[in-house]
Amino acid sequence: MKKINISFFLNGDLIEKKLDPESRVLDLLRNILWKTGTKEGCGDGDCGACTITQAYPLNNKIIYKAVNSCLMPVGKLQGTSIITIEGLEENNDLNLIQQAMVDQHGLQCGFCSPGISMSMFALLANKGIPSYDDLKNALNGNICRCTGYEGIRDAAKQVLNYINNNPNYDIVPKKIRECENKLLELELSLSEGDYLIPLSIETLKENIKNNPTAMIVCGCSDVSARAHISGEKFLKVIDVSRVKEMNQIQLINEDLCIGASVSLTEIINSPIVQEKAKVLSSGLKELAALQVRNLATLAGNIKNASPIADGVVLLMAYEAKLSILGSSGYKEIPISELYIGYKKTILEEGDIIEKIIISKEALSKEYHMEKTGKRNSVDIACVNSCASYKKENNIISDLCIAFGGISEKVVLEKIGKIENEYEIEICARDISLKYNPLSDVRGSKDYRVKLIKNHVIKHYAFITGEL
Ligand SMILES: Cc1cc2nc3c(=O)[nH]c(=O)nc-3n(C[C@H](O)[C@H](O)[C@H](O)COP(=O)(O)OP(=O)(O)OC[C@H]3O[C@@H](n4cnc5c(N)ncnc54)[C@H](O)[C@@H]3O)c2cc1C
Ligand code: FES
Ligand code: FES
Repeated sequence: MKKINISFFLNGDLIEKKLDPESRVLDLLRNILWKTGTKEGCGDGDCGACTITQAYPLNNKIIYKAVNSCLMPVGKLQGTSIITIEGLEENNDLNLIQQAMVDQHGLQCGFCSPGISMSMFALLANKGIPSYDDLKNALNGNICRCTGYEGIRDAAKQVLNYINNNPNYDIVPKKIRECENKLLELELSLSEGDYLIPLSIETLKENIKNNPTAMIVCGCSDVSARAHISGEKFLKVIDVSRVKEMNQIQLINEDLCIGASVSLTEIINSPIVQEKAKVLSSGLKELAALQVRNLATLAGNIKNASPIADGVVLLMAYEAKLSILGSSGYKEIPISELYIGYKKTILEEGDIIEKIIISKEALSKEYHMEKTGKRNSVDIACVNSCASYKKENNIISDLCIAFGGISEKVVLEKIGKIENEYEIEICARDISLKYNPLSDVRGSKDYRVKLIKNHVIKHYAFITGEL
C-alpha cells in the first residue's frame, strides 16, 4: 500500500510520519522506530511476546488496552497513543511492574517479560484496584517458556499489594498521562489513501460506494493472522472499527442490539449483556486471549465463517438476527440462514454486518455453553456447543443445541421437550449418528462423535442441576 500520513503518540511523544498503513505495528516498532523491547514470538497472536498497550478515547474516556502488535496494522495507530516497555521507566528507574518482576524472579531469558509487563500495565492504567483474578486473567494471553509462572504470579501479587497500600499511585508515567488531553485533539479517522477509517455510517456508505471491492476489516485479528501466513496484500481497506453507530450496545424494544464494531472485551464487560445475556458474556471469555478479544468482534467471527467459531455457536443458540447494510439498504437475516457451506455465507461483496440482534423472546430462555479443546481457554475448540432451553417445574422444554466442530458449518439441533434421562440418552445418540465430522489436529472423527454425545449429556446434567 502507498504510504500515508499517520499521527499517534509513542510513549508520550507525538509521531507524525508517512507510513505503510497495512504493515504491522510490530515491524514499525522494531525496524523503523527502534523500540526493540517489543519481541516477536509466534507472529500470529498466540504468545503475547509482542504485547503493547494502546490508549484511545471511547465514550468520552481514555481507555487503555493490551493488544498484540503482530496483529495490528499501522493504520490502526491513527489518533491513538501506544506505550511500549521502553515507555514505562520514569527518571531512569524501573517501573513498579518491572521492579516486581526482578524482585520475584519473574524472568530468565526475558523474552516474554516486556509483553507480560505491558499486559499488567494496561490493566492498571485504567485505574481502580483490580483483583488478583483480574490480573491473572489479564495475563492469560502471555506465554513464558522458561521461567515458569510462579515468579510471574508473585510479581503480580507484589504489584497488587503495593497498589492496595497506595491507592493514589498512578502506574502511568506523567508524560504519557499528559498526552491524554492532546490525544483528544488528534484526528481519529483516515479519509485519504488506501486505508480508510470512517467514523460514521454515512461516511462508511460513501467509502463503500467509491470503493466497492475494498477489504472490510474491524479488529483485523483474523485478517492479520491470515495475511501473516499467506502474505496476502490488499489494494484498499475500509476499517469499520470506529464507526460510531456500530459501537453501541442498546436495548431497543427489549431486544438486545450489539453494534458490529463493539470489541469482544466490551461485550463481555457490558452491564447490559451481563444482565440480559449472561452466557454470551461468559462464553466469549473463552474465545482467544485478552489481547485478541480487545480487538476482535462478533461481526468478524461471524463473517470469518469458521465451523468452530465460538461467537457463532453462541449466537446460533441465541437465534440472533443480523442487520446487514448492503448496496440496496438494510435487511435483517437470521444467523441460521447465513451459512451455505464451508466458510461460505450468503453475504455479497460490500455487505456490512451493522449490528447483531437478540430478541426479547430469546433473552427469556436459559443458556449453557460447553467448549472442549486442548486447553481450557485461549484455544480454538475441538467441539463447542451452546444449549438454550426453558425450565419450569423441572420440565425442560424448547431445548436447542448449537454445535461447532462437527460439520462444515455451525449447526443448530432443535430438540424440544425432554422428560427424563432415557430421552436425553437417545437424543445424544441420534445427534452423534447424524454427523460425520473431520479428523484434524484438534481431534479425530471418533473423538468428535464421542464429544457430541458427551456435550448433550453434560448440558442435561447442568440443566437438571447434577453438574
Ligand atoms: C490468536 C487467535 C486466537 C483465536 N482464537 C479464537 C477462538 O478461540 N475462538 C474463535 O471463535 N475464534 C478465535 N479466533 C478468531 C478471531 O479472533 C475471531 O474470528 C474474531 O472475532 C474476528 O474479529 P475481527 O473483528 O478481528 O475480524 P477481522 O479480522 O477484522 O475480519 C474477519 C472477517 O470478517 C469480515 N468483517 C469484519 N467486520 C465486518 C463487518 N462489520 N461486516 C462484514 N464483514 C466484516 C472481514 O472482511 C473478514 O473477512 C482467534 C484468532 C486469533 C488470531
Ligand atoms: S508475536 Fe506472538 S502474539 Fe504477537
Ligand atoms: S523469561 Fe524466558 S520466556 Fe519467559
